[in-house]
Amino acid sequence: MKKNKIAVAVALCMAAVLTACGGTAKTETTKAAGAETTKAGAETTKAGAETTKAAESSAAGGKLVMVTNAEFPPYEYHDNNDIVGIDADIAKAIADKMGMELEIQDMAFDSLIPAVQSGKADFTAAGMTVNEDRKKNVDFTDTYAQAAQVIIVKEGSEIKAPADLDGKKIGVQTGTTGDIYAGDIKDANIQRFNKGMEAVMALTQGKVDAVVIDREPAKVFVKENAGLKILDEAFTEEEYAIAVKKGNTELLEKMNAAIKELKDSGELQKIVDKYITAE
Ligand code: ARG
Repeated sequence: MKKNKIAVAVALCMAAVLTACGGTAKTETTKAAGAETTKAGAETTKAGAETTKAAESSAAGGKLVMVTNAEFPPYEYHDNNDIVGIDADIAKAIADKMGMELEIQDMAFDSLIPAVQSGKADFTAAGMTVNEDRKKNVDFTDTYAQAAQVIIVKEGSEIKAPADLDGKKIGVQTGTTGDIYAGDIKDANIQRFNKGMEAVMALTQGKVDAVVIDREPAKVFVKENAGLKILDEAFTEEEYAIAVKKGNTELLEKMNAAIKELKDSGELQKIVDKYITAE
């Protein structure tokens, strides 16, 4: 059942890629890391004193607005008109505990942090990896998942380990940690895509030599595309957390309390098990 759901979502993604997204890859080789640090510093001045919309609405018991990029099964993906997945369920459980309604909006991955910074959204839950650059721009909750960047290649590829990526064409989703870390590969030719699935399609078409992406989505994409495999050696180990506006300690503390309850009660694991079947 859950597998079917993911299969449908992936099939839809693929259809979208095939019909609408031909040739969206850009061929820049610059590092993406800097892009996320743009507003650092400027935003920190008012930290702590801010009464954000989120804090106001949480006091009123209103609505929490979450932004995500629903191209990332099993964490967030489209199921007909709904956005479902581990992050969607966790966010719903947190909102329930806070006595608030949850609204989920879908947008490009590299727009998520700006949306939280500007107060357009209360938080982002998007399989988002905690890293030092992002911490300059948003505050992260306690982590709720272990993750890794892995490498997808075609079966029979000469790329057998991360060290073999030097000088290769590498597909990534724009603004992700895969994008950032690929920038460290010697002479890498990084091809950026709006969706991870588009990078995987480029791999099946021989337009890139490898894709660097998070492990669980990688498993879903590889299952849906014949002739691909994930290398045993991961590229990095990471952790996911929810991000809120810098200085919004009220929301951060409430979310951390809810996350702790979800962990302690086993509810969090139940959500994960609903979407990820043990092999
Ligand atoms: N973990 C990676 C990052 O934080 C990729 C996340 C992509 N998430 C998404 N919903 N598309 O950069």
